[in-house]
Amino acid sequence: MTSDPGDADTSLVEGAMERITEAGSLDALAAVEADLLGKRSELARSQKALGALDPDERRAAGQRLQGVRRQIEAAVAGRRAALEDGARAERLAADRLDLTEVLEAPWRGHLHLVQRTRDELEDVFVGMGFAVAEGPEVETDWYNFEALNMPPAHPARGMWDTLYLKLGEPETVVLRTHTSPVQIRLMQSQAPPIYAVMPGRCYRRDTPDARHIPTFNQIEGLVVDRGISFADLAGTIETFTTAYFGPDIHSRLRPSYFPFTEPSAEFEITCTICGGPGCRTCSQTGWIELGGCGMVDPAVLGAVGLDDERWSGFAFGFGIDRCAQMRHQIPDMRVLLENDARLLRQI
Ligand code: DAH
Repeated sequence: MTSDPGDADTSLVEGAMERITEAGSLDALAAVEADLLGKRSELARSQKALGALDPDERRAAGQRLQGVRRQIEAAVAGRRAALEDGARAERLAADRLDLTEVLEAPWRGHLHLVQRTRDELEDVFVGMGFAVAEGPEVETDWYNFEALNMPPAHPARGMWDTLYLKLGEPETVVLRTHTSPVQIRLMQSQAPPIYAVMPGRCYRRDTPDARHIPTFNQIEGLVVDRGISFADLAGTIETFTTAYFGPDIHSRLRPSYFPFTEPSAEFEITCTICGGPGCRTCSQTGWIELGGCGMVDPAVLGAVGLDDERWSGFAFGFGIDRCAQMRHQIPDMRVLLENDARLLRQI
């Protein structure tokens, strides 16, 4: 019994397929390919031997062998493509640079608490019908003291630990110790009626502690109109306190002295750190002084040429930083200047 050439082809193809599949690299595959299809391959030999056959047999065998060759070629091509893909993937994996850096989501900044407090205070007063004005931080002695009823050598000047600038005559130019000089500038630049608040930075030679920082912010208020009384002042302060701190915080006016007001008062609110019983921040008093106020002294109206028979007014001035401190219950005011990001993030 002669073996069927179809069986031989089948086992040739199967053997070839196995070797092709097993070729683990492009080089190995090239060697297998040369073995299977090259000049000295079994297939090449069989194809060469076709010449010895008679024509009919030759055609049939030739077509068969050609079919085998095509199958093997296709398998080699398929395996090569697969090996190439694998090699490329390997190369890519080896070359891969991880350019993504894991960062925290960027932190969106916001205005500093003191600036926000200033904006909020302005809003409260604008809501009450006041305009907003500003003045310079470097002032002459005249605006900072003299026009406010403190002539040179007046003992009340001692209420402010003043920083003088080396400019002109000694002790004539100062870093303003309060925002009160803006009252003078305002009255010089516009005729009454005046309803204005004047926020800004002030400077004093103060030793920093829980309630004092040498660079701080005040907001000044000035009303000049006909028939203004102390009741208008008290009502304005009360309206402001409730609007800004809420109904739980009480305010009180205590008789006091300022050269530019008569009568004068200190304006205090319940200490929000302890709520009243007393703590380090309020020096155990339960009250925090926010600022001063009073009826504009006739001498101040006189300094800017206003007739005190026709006009009267009230003024107040208090600390913006102090308001921020009380509203946000910050026991020590110095943190407002330290720029510690952990604090800035919270407030
Ligand atoms: N300028 C005063 C200070 O810094 C605060 C002040 C008191 C302002 C009475 C006023 C006022 O307008 O009427 O200590």
